[in-house]
Amino acid sequence: MTSLRNQTVVILGGTSGLGFAIALATLQSHASHIIVAASTSAHVSRIVDRLISTAKDHHLSGAVQGRTVEFTNEEQINHFFAEIGDVDHVIIADNETFKPPPVQVSASTRVFGGGRNSLNSNGSGSHEYWGFGLVARQARIKTGGSICLTAGKNSALEGLTRGLAVDLAPVVRVNTIVPGSVLTDVWDGITPDLRDQLLTRSAEGVLLERLGTPEELAEAYLFAMKCGFLNGEIIHVNGGQKLA
Ligand SMILES: NC(=O)c1ccc[n+]([C@@H]2O[C@H](COP(=O)([O-])OP(=O)(O)OC[C@H]3O[C@@H](n4cnc5c(N)ncnc54)[C@H](OP(=O)(O)O)[C@@H]3O)[C@@H](O)[C@H]2O)c1
Repeated sequence: MTSLRNQTVVILGGTSGLGFAIALATLQSHASHIIVAASTSAHVSRIVDRLISTAKDHHLSGAVQGRTVEFTNEEQINHFFAEIGDVDHVIIADNETFKPPPVQVSASTRVFGGGRNSLNSNGSGSHEYWGFGLVARQARIKTGGSICLTAGKNSALEGLTRGLAVDLAPVVRVNTIVPGSVLTDVWDGITPDLRDQLLTRSAEGVLLERLGTPEELAEAYLFAMKCGFLNGEIIHVNGGQKLA
């Protein structure tokens, strides 16, 4: 049985929801070093304390570290990867905020097809996919390691996953998990009534008639890290959502 023994795993967005469940599952799979990163230092400290105490209670030897990193800040991402050095796996558990600041686009680029994404009047635009590319470039991933992305609304991530897998082969594998509806804190930002309505509707669209748990999703990320022959794949984990 493959474990994550002697491996270092970085979880970007590892303080909540899917990311925290992945961090916990990684610890339980005997990774030797787990680094969780997010933007709020209080969240990072709380989760690191929680993981360290879980490790102690269950006699797990993995070392846990936290880093406060703002994903929209390219300099901070570069600095983070330079500071942590070589790692085995990088999980991007949050995709929605994973965007460096707007890029300046020249007038000619604007006219000839560039910068499709929300260009504003001064020629800047936000870019959905650049953050993922930045991680692929900056992370120092050891041979045999992997990157695992998380899809949200960004459908073109499938192409990016395959493209990065081609570019980084044969050294690093790249895969993407596409979660269905999962019961995480992400649902807490809306009113209870609307939340109940949306949860009921989401569950109706799933063959299993329920939402997923973060722990169930974490299993898919473990698979993506551990299975050394999995590469360039898009894994849908949604309880049969497309079939309902
Ligand atoms: N839950 C679902 O039903 C579902 C379904 C499909 C896809 N997804 C996708 O899965 C991803 C994770 O979902 P989730 O429910 O686990 O979300 P979540 O609970 O909100 O977790 C997001 C994580 O990212 C970190 N983060 C947010 N903004 C950041 C920033 N600007 N810089 C650095 N870190 C940042 C958060 O920590 P801080 O706040 O401390 O920064 C937290 O650790 C989301 O991107 C979502 O699109 C979720």
